Formats: sequence, C-alpha cells, structure tokens
Amino acid sequence: MANNMDDLTFKKAIDSNHQNLETPCYVFNSNTLINNYQNLKKNLDTPLIVSIKANPNAELLNRVSHITKDGYEVASLKELSLIAGPTADPKYLNNPSMDINLIKAAVGAKANIIIDHAHLVEILASLENRRRIKPLIIRLNSSVLKEIKADFPPVIDDHFGLDLSSLHETVARIHQYGFKVSGFHVFNGSNSFKEAAFATLDATFHLIPILEKILGYPVSFINLGGGFSSNWELLGFDFSRYRTQLHKIPDRIHVVHETGRGIFASAGKFLTRILYTKKINNHIIAICDGGLVQNFLLCKTENVIKKYQQPSIWKLPTNKSMRSDLPIKYVGTTCSQNDVISKCPAGSMLPETGDICIFENCGAYNSTYTVSNFLGLKNFTTYIW
Ligand SMILES: Cc1ncc(COP(=O)(O)O)c(C=O)c1O
Repeated sequence: MANNMDDLTFKKAIDSNHQNLETPCYVFNSNTLINNYQNLKKNLDTPLIVSIKANPNAELLNRVSHITKDGYEVASLKELSLIAGPTADPKYLNNPSMDINLIKAAVGAKANIIIDHAHLVEILASLENRRRIKPLIIRLNSSVLKEIKADFPPVIDDHFGLDLSSLHETVARIHQYGFKVSGFHVFNGSNSFKEAAFATLDATFHLIPILEKILGYPVSFINLGGGFSSNWELLGFDFSRYRTQLHKIPDRIHVVHETGRGIFASAGKFLTRILYTKKINNHIIAICDGGLVQNFLLCKTENVIKKYQQPSIWKLPTNKSMRSDLPIKYVGTTCSQNDVISKCPAGSMLPETGDICIFENCGAYNSTYTVSNFLGLKNFTTYIW
C-alpha cells in the first residue's frame, strides 16, 4: 500500500517539533485515508462502506466525511453517535449483541439493521415506531457460502449471522411481523479478500435465487463484505476480472463492499520514545514509553507465530546513528513479559534514550483494541496530520 504520508515531510515535522511531541502517540493522516478510500472504491467500482470499528476517531472521520458518503457500519451506541445526526449517509448497525436501546437509537437514526439472529426481529416487533424501520439486511454466516459452493476456500469458523436452517426460521419470523428484507451481508473475515473474493461472488450468484425463493420476492441489496488487507494494492489481485464478474449481478441489486483495515491501516503511525536502554542476556532492551497498553496489537499476543513489526528510528539530534552488535527488544511500560512491541536483529539501528520509534500501518484497530486500564498507565495522544 502506498504510504502517502510524505515521510520526509513527516521526519522534518518531528525534527522541528520533537520537544513538544507527546508520546506515545498515534498520528493519523486524512489525505492517506482519502487516497486509500478512493483507490479501493475505484478498483471495486461499487459503493464502499466504512467500518467504523477499525478507527472511530471523530476528528479523522469528520475530515474525510465529504468522501466517505457511501455509508458507515457501526457496532455500538458510541459508534452510532459518531455518525448519527443530520447526515443522510447510509448507516448500518451490525452486532449480534445489540440491545433494545441500541436498536431504538438505530431506528431513530434511520440506520439499516443487520439481522444476526431471530431474537432481534422480536425486539423490532416490540417497538412502537415500527414505521421507521428500514428493510432488514440478513447477515449470513460464511458457512452458507461453503454449503452452496463446495470448493469455497476454507472459511473462518465465526459465530456471526445465520446458517441455512436458521435463515428459514428467521425469515418466517420476519414475515410473521410484516417486515421486509432488502438483502444480505456476508463477510469472510479480515484479510480474506484475495483468497475468497471470486468464490464469494460465485456463491452469491447461487445465493440470490435461493434467498429470493425463501423470501418470495427479489432482493435489492448485497454487502459482499471485504476483508481487504492493509497492503491490498500490492497483492496483484485481478480487479479488472473481478469487476467484470461483479457486473453480472443484476442491476436491480445495489451491491456494496465494506472496509476498515484496507483504508485505515496505512493511514496511521504509532510513535513511542525510548526512555532507557540496558543490556541483558546478549540483548539490547529498549524500554519505551508506550507498549501493550497503547498498542496491544504490536505485541502479537494473539498470533501463534510472532512476526513483529520493525520500527524506523528517529534519532535525537544529540544521539549518534550507530548499528547494534546485538539483537534489540523493544518493550513497553507494563511489567508484563508480553509487553514486547518489536524485536530487531543485530545490525539494526541502535536505539538510545530520547529516540523515537515509528511504527507504520497502525491506523486500523491498534488504537482501540487495547487493555487500556491495565496498571492505570497513561494512554496515548492522537495527532491528525
Ligand atoms: C461485518 C464486518 N465487520 C468488519 C469489517 C471490517 O473488517 P476489516 O477491517 O478487516 O476490513 C467488515 C468488512 O467487510 C465487515 O463486513
């Protein structure tokens, strides 16, 4: 993915502002976000919904809102309140755990409700202002695609949406209460697009008549999800062939994609300062002012294979640029053995007190997917670049 933050300009900005730069911090670039959004949308040639959970920073979202007009997916009351209000942009509420208060707020905000299971239909049926409810969207579990298309690539085993038998039951409930369904939403998980996109389309061609038969009327909306990786542009995906296939979906159906990571990741950097360094067990340990609490995902605690990101090092002008003879471990502030945000081999830049580590690709999920209450440590500062 092209990193449109002009690295030289960014370095110069740190050169002149490092004394005032509060670390640890995230720096989000709205121009990069806009470029990513426009590029992805151009490649897909469909509307592109923004998944707010990837980066719910209000200032950033506001700065790009003139571009991201195809709509937003939200999963909580807090996220809904970021995009509710007078805007006419489509809103989609998607969370199996949504409760009656969230549903009421979403109906009031004219959001499209994504039905994950039949209990949500019961809640909708109990509302007084049922006339405001927009046609429902059905979330289908990826296993449905596998059921329809036996050679579908391995699907993630997640708990979202309906399988084929619960689809029948849920549609029966929807009919019983006189609600309408506009269509369906599928999502094969993060980073799945390259592997699953063509198979998802194939399965969709089969799925349309199946769902229309169950509903008894035509569908008018399909969200094909996405699962675009942060580096989707570099993966050599054949978007031209994909668009050709996509256009075979009847025109009466409004087809959209959705993204979080694919547009936000490369629009954010994480910066943390070196507080101290020490040498133990043939390693340089660089103790940073940020780590697991402010950027849990860097620690790779959830990955079986820990492939750490390598930071670039901004050198404090009074420090020397030297290579390290020993491997380096970058650690955070929590006293947890898991608080390791990077490991670099011998020969890498030697970090010293006052230097700043810059981690790229931290614009999606990193700032919110955290354990921020641990030890009551200070949180991060955010800058919009
Ligand atoms: C239900 C759902 N959640 C989240 C996302 C965003 O995932 P990612 O950030 O990996 O693009 C999508 C994208 O299609 C989605 O459909």
